[in-house]
Amino acid sequence: MNRIYSLFCIFLIAIAANAQETNKLIVDATKGNVVISKNIYGHFAEHLGRCIYDGIWVGKDSKIPNINGYRTDIVNALKEMQIPVLRWPGGCFADTYHWKDGIGPVNQRAKMMNYHWGGVVENNTFGTHEFLNLCEMLGCEPYISANVGSGTVVEMTQWIEYMNSDKDVPMANLRRQNGREKPWNVKYLGVGNESWGCGGTMTPDFYVNLLRNYSEMAGIYGQWKLQQIGCGANGADYNWTDVVMKQRPGAMSGLSLHYYTIAGPGWGNKTAATGFEKKYYFSGLEKALKINELVEKHSAIMDKYDPKKHVGLMVDEWGIWTDVEPGTEEGFLFQQNSIRDALIASVTLDVFNNHADRVKMANIAQTINVLQAVILTEGSKMILTPTYYVFKMYKVHQDAKLLPSHLITEDYEMDGRKIPALSSSVSEDQNGNIHVSITNLNPDKEITLSVELVGKSFGKVNAASVLTAPEYNSFNSFDNPEVVKPIDFRSFKKINASSLHLTVPSKALVVLEIM
Ligand code: AHR
Repeated sequence: MNRIYSLFCIFLIAIAANAQETNKLIVDATKGNVVISKNIYGHFAEHLGRCIYDGIWVGKDSKIPNINGYRTDIVNALKEMQIPVLRWPGGCFADTYHWKDGIGPVNQRAKMMNYHWGGVVENNTFGTHEFLNLCEMLGCEPYISANVGSGTVVEMTQWIEYMNSDKDVPMANLRRQNGREKPWNVKYLGVGNESWGCGGTMTPDFYVNLLRNYSEMAGIYGQWKLQQIGCGANGADYNWTDVVMKQRPGAMSGLSLHYYTIAGPGWGNKTAATGFEKKYYFSGLEKALKINELVEKHSAIMDKYDPKKHVGLMVDEWGIWTDVEPGTEEGFLFQQNSIRDALIASVTLDVFNNHADRVKMANIAQTINVLQAVILTEGSKMILTPTYYVFKMYKVHQDAKLLPSHLITEDYEMDGRKIPALSSSVSEDQNGNIHVSITNLNPDKEITLSVELVGKSFGKVNAASVLTAPEYNSFNSFDNPEVVKPIDFRSFKKINASSLHLTVPSKALVVLEIM
């Protein structure tokens, strides 16, 4: 069956379904032509609060079990989640970071102020070697954020040579002197972070000129192998995207976007991460869903200048930003994480999957102990947050083929405002298995829907899991770490060769593997 015909079938079924019933997912199982980049499932680790120190790195002499200084429990959990790419060293920190302070014998490394985050003194124990070796251990790609705000082109090009050159040149030799013979071959380089804000409060015109300069030099020193990511917009700043895309350097293969969900009233008011009222459950999800509009509008501008989609939209900071946990340092951004936040993650990942033709990378902020973390630590204890489980359940979509789908859904309504109750995305892996993820945002009502396949028959459901929780704001604590965790899902029924009914519990996400 050709693609036009199958899309036409989807269209007809959708019209019929609209007339008859509310909740239905129609999937074109013939030919998708877009691969969901595994990098959409990326993470971000900044020198901020307890993300690096305590979170990832405890040092070789720590009593906490570690592999050469990296916490063993964290390394294992990140591997299990299949982390594909990790962005470092910031964030705002990146534009104050001078990489040479973080190499060489640890006791001789220069200290620096962490001006943005808590005003602490950074002793640079964790530097380039520690980060890149971690990525090797995890089997993920490093994504280096270069300092444009307070650095220089020379500093950046020397860093590139230090990390990637295998020649007899001064920076590669310095690396060898510091104990690393082979280059790491870093693939992703960010040219500035939030250059419109903490990275220099630049105008887009000023930034794009700097970008062209840095980019050309990064291209030359990186032998045109680096994928360069230009600093993109803050949320709905479409003018930034327009200016940068129009004058972008040829070597830029990605443009970033930052969007944080802030659940309180208006657009800047944070709320508590736990114990919040139901209206903040709703507004958190409502604001998270705004990412769909942002991705579509920024993509439309990118299409104007780059119709063949050579430049990826890299959402390299996203997630919910709440108040810090009571009693913790304001500048450390340590927050808890509830089932609402897991649903924010699943609907956001659905948006990225469904726009995989343009979205080529995304990095949730931040991996451990900061903002919407996947893992929290307290001394030797570690807990997996509800968001961790979303990444683990969704890993089936990494590098799978996106299957076109159409979702018909009822709304979830609160105080006269509405959001779609269901969210979904569907992919097919290299073995021909179809993975369907469906989220029900309604916290009070289970929803039954049908999944219709066009162009293929269902064999059987191979595996299915569900993540839900007792309350709309339930979370995992150090005393009670398993309140929210996935279990097997059984509430589905095959109706015929191309149709399946399933009942998704309230405030839940389900991932099915269908043969
Ligand atoms: O993730 C925390 C901060 O949020 C980052 O440092 C910055 O890029 C953004 O404003």
